[in-house]
Amino acid sequence: MPSPRTRSDALVFFGSTGDLAFKQVFPALQALVRRGRLDLPIVAVGRKDLEVDDLRARAKESIEKSGTFDAPAFARLAALIRYVKVDYDDASTFVQIREALGSAKHPLHYVALPPEVFEQVATNLAKAGLNEGARLSLEKPFGNDQASARALSESLHRYFPEEAIFRIDHYIAKESVENLIYFRAANPLIEASLQREYVETVEITMAEAFGVKGRARFYDAVGAVRDVVQNHLLEVVACLTMELPSEKGYVGLRAERGRLLAKVRVLSAGDVVRGQARGYQNDDGVANGSTTETFAALRVFVDSPRWQGVPFFIRTGKSLPVTATEARIRWKRRDRPVLQDESAPEPNYVRFRLGPDDVIAIGANVKRDGERMVGERKELVLRRSVPEETKPYERLIGDALDGDPTMFADRVAVEESWRVVDPVVGKGQVFTYEPGSWGPVEASRIQPEGGWANPT
Ligand code: BG6
Repeated sequence: MPSPRTRSDALVFFGSTGDLAFKQVFPALQALVRRGRLDLPIVAVGRKDLEVDDLRARAKESIEKSGTFDAPAFARLAALIRYVKVDYDDASTFVQIREALGSAKHPLHYVALPPEVFEQVATNLAKAGLNEGARLSLEKPFGNDQASARALSESLHRYFPEEAIFRIDHYIAKESVENLIYFRAANPLIEASLQREYVETVEITMAEAFGVKGRARFYDAVGAVRDVVQNHLLEVVACLTMELPSEKGYVGLRAERGRLLAKVRVLSAGDVVRGQARGYQNDDGVANGSTTETFAALRVFVDSPRWQGVPFFIRTGKSLPVTATEARIRWKRRDRPVLQDESAPEPNYVRFRLGPDDVIAIGANVKRDGERMVGERKELVLRRSVPEETKPYERLIGDALDGDPTMFADRVAVEESWRVVDPVVGKGQVFTYEPGSWGPVEASRIQPEGGWANPT
């Protein structure tokens, strides 16, 4: 196992011919090369019979499609890439990875493959001696419930210690999610008010205007709760509510996220409404009569002295009216005799737009001109997205190469968030909703007082 500060000296990239590689990873690799963060052999691994030039051409096409193609940076990237064909079930083929690695001693094995093959790949890496001194980075999902997540970690630990495992939840590495933590830490006034005495509700909406886009086979076995609530959205809850670490660096952040998730109350049937978009069943790969949810609304509680009793509302869905992820903290209203508004002024809020753009805004009330003490709501926008921001995959691959685990999900967080959702996954009725709507009408059972604030 490399010491935490040893930089990996090669990148072994499993799944280099897959969808994620095309959409996210090749553009991230070129960005890393451009920033001078990647100048190592890249051993691309796949099951297809390809020449290295075929793979380079695919990488080029992927980067061009992403709109970030940079000829000199791409030329440097292409020169780093080699290609090895393996059979994931056949340990003997892994020897070729060893050969392609040459003198490299501390490779990062980045596995962008379906979870069914994680253990097989880890075992075969070990059989070829490729676990020694190496790191392993995996794409979610990590198990499909708490027991299988635990079993997966235990099985990986036979070959890779926890410190060498980098579990990717790309939400944690979003600039906008990191800024949640910065914003809390750097603004003591806001931070002091993030507690049950002041906060009325917290709501998080992750809406996608598209459907399952050719991923139906994967998605139908998973559903919205497993796909994005267990991981991305519970991590966002953790970033909003965890205690800010007192120690410097990664240990603090990672450990606090896990500690917070351990306090999230396990869900029961009454806390969830599931929905399915009309027409989902016609997608190729969806089982006949599927009851997989493409929408979920959930009520979550954090049982810590700081957050006890504050409801967190989480809502996500495919085929909703917009593509936007937003977290909103609403503070309690206070009526004051001096005010002449018809009812107490609107609650103050802070709104974090987490994607696709990046905004922080505060809702407050100010007096209207005139002789009466009557006001109106204004929103102060503090931040808009920076186009040059580091994208999550660039950050994650760079950090894994550096051995910095801050932005990765650790074992505790993964298992605790499965504990929260396990009892409701796949359970209960699924209500149909129209594509382009905000989910089934039944979802109104789970919403903040005054209704959801729909992102626009
Ligand atoms: C993935 C899910 O983890 O996150 C997808 O599997 C989802 O279903 C995606 O669309 C959303 O990511 P982002 O960064 O576009 O919000």
